[in-house]
Amino acid sequence: MLKGKEIVLGVTGGIAAYKAVELLRLLTRGGANVHVVMTRAAMEFVAPLTFQTLSMNQVHTDLFKLISEREIGHIALADRADLLVIAPATANCIGKLASGIADDLLTTTVMATKAPVLIAPAMNVNMYENALFGENVGKLRQHGFIFVEPVKGMLACGWEGEGKLQEPQIIFEEVVAALAVKDLAGEKVLITAGPTREELDPVRYLSNHSSGKMGYAIARAAYRRGAKVTLVTGPTSLKEPYGVETIKAVSAAEMHEKVLSCFTESSVIIKAAAVADYRPRLRADKKIKKSDKTVTLDLLKNPDILAELGRRKEARLLVGFAAETGDLEKNAGKKLVEKNLDMVVANDICQAGAGFNVDTNCVTLLFRDGRVENLPLMQKDALADVILDRVVALLRGKAGQGLLPGTVT
Ligand code: PMT
Repeated sequence: MLKGKEIVLGVTGGIAAYKAVELLRLLTRGGANVHVVMTRAAMEFVAPLTFQTLSMNQVHTDLFKLISEREIGHIALADRADLLVIAPATANCIGKLASGIADDLLTTTVMATKAPVLIAPAMNVNMYENALFGENVGKLRQHGFIFVEPVKGMLACGWEGEGKLQEPQIIFEEVVAALAVKDLAGEKVLITAGPTREELDPVRYLSNHSSGKMGYAIARAAYRRGAKVTLVTGPTSLKEPYGVETIKAVSAAEMHEKVLSCFTESSVIIKAAAVADYRPRLRADKKIKKSDKTVTLDLLKNPDILAELGRRKEARLLVGFAAETGDLEKNAGKKLVEKNLDMVVANDICQAGAGFNVDTNCVTLLFRDGRVENLPLMQKDALADVILDRVVALLRGKAGQGLLPGTVT
């Protein structure tokens, strides 16, 4: 995700400095070349050697040491960076940046860079709620600085409240988002994910093997690419994606209701959920008792959400999935036409590494104009971006034909 990117990681003096080590791991694993700049106070909490070993780059701590180098050090760092991230950022550091003060290597580098700067504050709750701090943040936001809000929790100082450094994984995702091309800016993307559960009684239900991984990957990628994203999800064990409005639904009827309530304001809808086609005619209030007799389930057909969206879609872009166990192109092509889709992602779920509850997928894309694109096995995260690349191309095509306001640039 960050291959070829040069990132400057600024670490300031707070107890959360140790979490910057985990962030550094995520950034380097993501493929970035990371240059760590530590303030004097940060070195009281974590030794520079830790960052040096993990980044495999010299850690920068002293403005004047760098000036004695052949290239002027802070300028070289500022110019080289694709992005600067400061985590944790203290109230002092944020105050200095907001006042244009550049009295150490980190603040000087920030002043000298043209790259985006992402700030993850961490501090005592009273400092966080201080009006002066709020004004400084507001000022920096106006100048284009990106903030990753801290979370509520028990703080190292003993107070409880807001001020705890955001999780390194989320800061990492925001770094990736800050560097991504915002080709979905202005779009409102509605995504469905996961299974539905159709209850038989308080204990049992009918469902399927969907983990939600595919739909959640698309939601994360669409957010990174600048879309306003709503995710309607069936029951999964996955973490809600950061920056995405997540709405939970259990049964197909509930998913139907939730999807329809968000549909009108959406410009793109992608339905990766595995919705149960049938539900029990009756749900027993009490646990159905075991007996020696055979049990026959009486099932009613659930509403086909996608087909209904297809009837109402107008200028919206509609993408469906098709989970198939044979005749992939024929069956998926039928769904494309019958449900009035712009694209269908055909999933041969019998193929190894594809379909339900795995991190990879292998799909064929079918389009309205008859084009068919076979994609190789890949990570669901990577596939999410390929699907969105095709969505962007379809939106551009529609805008070109005057079918949509030209929201895609
Ligand atoms: O969640 P994962 O573990 O990551 O697995 C991913 C996946 C296999 C679930 C995903 O890749 C996938 O194939 N999703 C669609 C599964 C499915 O229900 O396919 P279908 O062929 O039965 O349905 C076709 C389309 O109609 C789907 O977009 C589905 O969301 C929609 N549908 C189906 C039935 C129904 N009552 N309402 C619907 O909207």
